[in-house]
Amino acid sequence: MLTIENGLTKESDVSYDIAAIRNHFPIFEESEREIGRPLAYLDTAASSQKPREVVEVLTKSLLLEHANIHRGAYSLSARATERYEAVRATVARAINAKSDRSIIFTRGTTEAVNLVARSLESWFQPGDTIVLTMLEHHSNIVPWQLLAERRNLKVVFAAIQEDASLDLNDFIEKVRTLKPRLVSFSLHSNAFGTVPPSEEMVAVCREVGATIFTDAAQAIVHGTVDVEKLDTDFLAFSGHKVYGPTGSGVLYVRPEMYQHMEPFMGGGDMISSVTVEGSTWAEPPQKFEAGTPAIAEVLALGAALEFMDRIGRGAVQNHERELFQRAWELLKSEGLELYGPANNGGHQSSIIPFNVPGVHPHDIATIADTFNVQLRAGNHCAMPALRRVGLYSTVRASIGVYTRLEDFEQMIEALRHARKILS
Ligand SMILES: Cc1ncc(COP(=O)(O)O)c(C=O)c1O
Repeated sequence: MLTIENGLTKESDVSYDIAAIRNHFPIFEESEREIGRPLAYLDTAASSQKPREVVEVLTKSLLLEHANIHRGAYSLSARATERYEAVRATVARAINAKSDRSIIFTRGTTEAVNLVARSLESWFQPGDTIVLTMLEHHSNIVPWQLLAERRNLKVVFAAIQEDASLDLNDFIEKVRTLKPRLVSFSLHSNAFGTVPPSEEMVAVCREVGATIFTDAAQAIVHGTVDVEKLDTDFLAFSGHKVYGPTGSGVLYVRPEMYQHMEPFMGGGDMISSVTVEGSTWAEPPQKFEAGTPAIAEVLALGAALEFMDRIGRGAVQNHERELFQRAWELLKSEGLELYGPANNGGHQSSIIPFNVPGVHPHDIATIADTFNVQLRAGNHCAMPALRRVGLYSTVRASIGVYTRLEDFEQMIEALRHARKILS
């Protein structure tokens, strides 16, 4: 049965009340009033819009509750600390981490990857291998390349197929033969929407004893992420993609990995003692949270994860899967070149990359904007993936909790116009 609390559906297997969900995002009403057309925001993969309750937590924290955390003896600071630490528990629940101790707050996915690459530096031995896939976002490539330069490591990329699905055989062979110390891969490609077979990938990593880092920057937005089921050692995501604010993010660490990790940054809050002779470190996760953190943003991230929970992650997944299918068919019938594994029945969701024959992607995005349709054009910070499938850039339409088929219809109107004037 459908139950609604504050306009949000409660069960995952009931019809999805998109109008009620959109009401939580004031930008839709405001944009339509200002531009005179509905806002077809199709760039959630880059950054999501924010629901009212997330921004309310952010403003309330700054206006009415602000104090630094982990320091003050006064009650305002103690309450800020309590709220901040409660979000650690919310995050742990959201990704099924066994302990709050596994949750480090970061500024986002990029910082989380850099944190791990820096803090594990002396754990790696010269000559060690890191395996990535050709699908990765630059933020899951460059920090490992920088580390490889510093420590004389090899970075090897598992291949992808022409349709941007992972070449699982190549991945398995590389992991088995190279026996990498670490393997890092995204659970959901931002450029092609590819959902790689993480279960098989993790199994072969475990076979050779490789440590696993998973990039959940997109996966956390579109469905369920369960670190226990996934059996990953590290996992990262960004608050701003999952309906929370910029400047917030999460790194999950399997507690056993902490013993190998040196501090990422030094400063206040991450120490146990400081003397002129030297310093000792606080226990994790504080050891990795130097300085005053983004307190209000972390509280708002907690509100964003609770917002997702109230809709139901299963409901989000069903909505996005169904909409993806319908949008894909619609765009195909328009004669667009669509990219990704769905072309061959493979696993792709929430992200549709395409090109309009004869029209440059940036021109499409610019013209679409005049129809109040927001699209991303470019290489989507995934140059190796695009080059591998013979592309320099694509237009990308991505789906969020508030996306409707009407948004794609509005996009098609814009594309028809672009074709008429440009091709
Ligand atoms: C798969 C993936 N990984 C990492 C990132 C980097 O996220 P951020 O820029 O929030 O650090 C993104 C952002 O687009 C992404 O889509």
